[in-house]
Amino acid sequence: MSLSDIYATRSSRMKASEIREMLQLVAQPDIISFAGGIPDPALFPMEAFREATAEALTEPQALQYSSTEGYAPLRQWLAEQMTVLGVPCTTDNILITSGSQQALDLLGKLFLSPNDTALVGWPTYLGALGAFNAYEPRYDRLDPGTNRSATDYLERATAAGGRVKMAYLSVDFCNPTGVTLTRDERQQVLALADELGCAIIEDAAYQALRFDGEALPPILALEVAEKGDIEACRTIYCGSFSKTLSPGLRVGWICAASPVIRQVVLEKQAGDLHSPTLNQMAIEKVARRHFLPHVAHIKSVYAARRDAMLAALDEHMPAGVEWTRPEGGMFIWATLPKGMSGSELLKTAVEEQRVAFVPGSAFYADGSGANTIRLNFSNADEDTIKDGIARLGKVVRQQLVQT
Ligand SMILES: Cc1ncc(COP(=O)(O)O)c(C=O)c1O
Repeated sequence: MSLSDIYATRSSRMKASEIREMLQLVAQPDIISFAGGIPDPALFPMEAFREATAEALTEPQALQYSSTEGYAPLRQWLAEQMTVLGVPCTTDNILITSGSQQALDLLGKLFLSPNDTALVGWPTYLGALGAFNAYEPRYDRLDPGTNRSATDYLERATAAGGRVKMAYLSVDFCNPTGVTLTRDERQQVLALADELGCAIIEDAAYQALRFDGEALPPILALEVAEKGDIEACRTIYCGSFSKTLSPGLRVGWICAASPVIRQVVLEKQAGDLHSPTLNQMAIEKVARRHFLPHVAHIKSVYAARRDAMLAALDEHMPAGVEWTRPEGGMFIWATLPKGMSGSELLKTAVEEQRVAFVPGSAFYADGSGANTIRLNFSNADEDTIKDGIARLGKVVRQQLVQT
């Protein structure tokens, strides 16, 4: 007998990704990797965290159980930040989560019954699909700006035996595409969700990492402006300190209407009682003292790396390859000529040129997008980026001759 015979049906949708496994194999020191999606650890504000942690540890509270909603001074700071972003709110509208990944899981749990529809980008953040999969939804394609009619979405959801429950979007410098939703697209998603009667899950993990271009209001801010009060809003904003201060401390937040917060609090209570107290206290102190100058510093480093990658792509990629020009974040998304496969390219790139990236099909709910790849620019210096893209250019040219 194998225990796997008696796993719940939901676990059948939770599979190890082939790509993740392959990428673990390529985590060798001689490989230039554009695969991860992680900040450069050399930029972590170590001294600020040493100080903040030592200070927090003078209070026994730092090691004690605390409230599920989160550390009150951190919630207060976040309510102020959300107000600056155009979302006037109070601590009742803020829940601290263990990274924004936990927020996605809790929101999947809150909204999705088996066969309900989640609208997602095509492609979208792989980790969101992973979080939602456990709740056995059906996915439908969201194309901000050119969406199908609400009736069409509703009819297909009903035919599949459920309802449209959420529209999930990585809004700023999207993981994986690097693309940012325009103001019009944000308004259109809002109008569509109003017609569908569904929640909007606004994933703002990269929001603070804008290098250039015009800052845009969150969808939640547009909705508050339209409806007058966060309490009347269907948008649930998920933020994170992972891309700015530290991913390892696992601190994120949800900002939403207070009844939603109260319900998610019950789920979080059942899951992990609360996020680590010491981590929240340290994040609060570092954020209050250093957030803006620290973020300005990492943005200048990442912007130079993005520029280096874009220049290297211009120089080394053959005609027929296209890529996005992100205004921030950590990713560039490239589309290879039709017929070329990102996964095949990865194998050759690793074996022959010691360079890695993520094949784009991993980010599509239906596994399409074979000829796309995601390139991360935050975790390698400019010279390494130039070298890595030159190597990648060679492999692409070589494959082009063969296809
Ligand atoms: C779009 C997006 N959302 C959410 C997350 C989860 O981040 P965390 O749980 O560290 O906040 C990530 C991490 O890569 C991401 O790219």
